[in-house]
Amino acid sequence: MRVSQRVSRLAESATLAVASRAAELRAQGVDVVDWSAGEPDFSSPPGVVAAAIEALGQGRTRYTKNTGLPELRSAISSDLGERLGGPWTADQVVVTVGAKAALFELALALFGAGDEVVLPNPYWVTFPAQIQLADAEVVEVAARPEHGFRVSAEAVCDRISPRTRAVLLNSPSNPTGAVIAAKDLRAIVEECASRGIYLIADETYERFVYDGEPFPSAAPLAAEFPETVILVGSFSKTHAMTGWRLGYLAGPQAVVKAVAKIQSHATSNATTFAMWGALAVFDDAEARVAEMLREYQARRDLLLAGLAGIPGVECPTPGGAFYAFPKVSARYENGRQGSAAFAEFLLDSAQVAVVPGAAFGADEHIRISFACSSERLRDGIDRLSKALA
Ligand SMILES: Cc1ncc(COP(=O)(O)O)c(C=O)c1O
Repeated sequence: MRVSQRVSRLAESATLAVASRAAELRAQGVDVVDWSAGEPDFSSPPGVVAAAIEALGQGRTRYTKNTGLPELRSAISSDLGERLGGPWTADQVVVTVGAKAALFELALALFGAGDEVVLPNPYWVTFPAQIQLADAEVVEVAARPEHGFRVSAEAVCDRISPRTRAVLLNSPSNPTGAVIAAKDLRAIVEECASRGIYLIADETYERFVYDGEPFPSAAPLAAEFPETVILVGSFSKTHAMTGWRLGYLAGPQAVVKAVAKIQSHATSNATTFAMWGALAVFDDAEARVAEMLREYQARRDLLLAGLAGIPGVECPTPGGAFYAFPKVSARYENGRQGSAAFAEFLLDSAQVAVVPGAAFGADEHIRISFACSSERLRDGIDRLSKALA
């Protein structure tokens, strides 16, 4: 059977080998410490679950407007305005099937053959895949571990060319946890505005920023540069609602219209009763989010302290999200060369599952998710220390 050239061009995910090996081990009854999942271990808010069940009972099971439930678009626009200073009206918000669909629809709506998209490396594995699926090219900017993986405006702007259609930033970052500095974000947006290109800000992890630091969101910059800034957000990580598949984007009217056109042929509206459920999140989100933030920070500190005790493992402090991205290449020895071989070694010898950095364009690193219990973190550190002793 033939598949399209588009699919043939896509690289196989480097996470697959470790994931399937981990599943195999689990099936054999092996106790695997799973540090690979980019998924909160908290449960979805009870109020949201109850509201979704109520919506089902009330027969809210039909299509809504393609762009989403008007009440939810309105709630998202108010939330972005009140919390972050975003300028968007409800009709500038599209509810999507996760942030992933928002990003994919943006790629299809805005990019094409011959276009370039500037993207910091390390990057979330899906960004380059989506850009390539839209026939555009990725232009990478190095985000270096010695700078805590934060990109500078200078480095980003250096990579903008006449073919650039957008700069795609993800802060806090998956996989590094880096949070962009406010002054760099502003300078990048100003440069994008002056060149007539878009700044797409994926702020999926915006609620998880540590050490009491303020989060520099692109939302207030959209008030100054309304034709430039596009914001992508999600219910998945913020509210532990990954399986609900609810995300959103907010941006200029022309972009919203183009995305709505794509969405009308791709998914139509996100699931109706899930959207009714999500409306309830705005009633009591703050206490839960604050509790998760506290917990993630404690786990981050525990993990960093543990990694610091392992020779040859260097880990910049993640300022946000729930990932650490240590450099481990100093321990690529005894035939285990490269992050995939190293991840396989950790799985086989310590039964700890991590994601190879190659998946994120950085083969000297591995990604550790600390969205798991402190007990599993301690257990994993113990196993890692022994395997690398
Ligand atoms: C940076 C980033 N953006 C977007 C997403 C997609 O989230 P969802 O589609 O669940 O909203 C993820 C999920 O891992 C992510 O890490």
